Amino acid sequence: MLKIAVLVSGGGTNLQALIDSERAGALGPGKIVKVIASRAGVYALERAEKAGIPTSVIARRDFTDAADYGRALIDELHACGAQLIVLAGFLSILGEEVIRAFPNRIINIHPALIPSFCGKGYYGLKVHEAALEKGVKVTGATVHFVNEIPDGGAIILQKAVPVEEGDTPERLQKRVMEQAEWQLLPQAVRLFCEGKIKVTGNITHITEG
Ligand code: GAR
Repeated sequence: MLKIAVLVSGGGTNLQALIDSERAGALGPGKIVKVIASRAGVYALERAEKAGIPTSVIARRDFTDAADYGRALIDELHACGAQLIVLAGFLSILGEEVIRAFPNRIINIHPALIPSFCGKGYYGLKVHEAALEKGVKVTGATVHFVNEIPDGGAIILQKAVPVEEGDTPERLQKRVMEQAEWQLLPQAVRLFCEGKIKVTGNITHITEG
């Protein structure tokens, strides 16, 4: 068994995709042992509770110091024995101490084809607004390892999704989730849990599709 902690900030549809995949046996040896939210009351917490997964809330604003916040997160992750940490719509930026504590063990889903529309300030609907403003005809989603550069870690999987005439940010977000994110994230988690992702510098090599 490989223990997974999922960090969330919102609706938790990507968390749901992971829960459903685990139930269907599609995460390999991966088991979600903890869901940590960046704020109380988010729907992702309800999804976790319904699935019987222990939850906690660690909010940045409850800590005066970024280092204290980082330590609280690290303690919680160690306490649940997390071997893989999945950022599934987690909108706080992780400090270096957290990233250093779990090298190449934190993965994130981003709703665009990195290196487009990524980095500081690009999250949630803002990503899709930027894609529509630029007029790209193709966008998509990326799962990548987390390093100290926002959205800058080694890319694991990407999937393209077409932009359609008349798209709104909300419509595009829904299509990217349905056609890319909800498949890509469980797939990347399974590959990680089965030991099929090798990292060389900033490049990953997948030993099976
Ligand atoms: C998802 O689209 C995810 O890719 C995005 O937030 C949404 C969360 O939805 N993440 C980012 O923008 C990270 N930079 P969810 O809570 O329903 O999974």
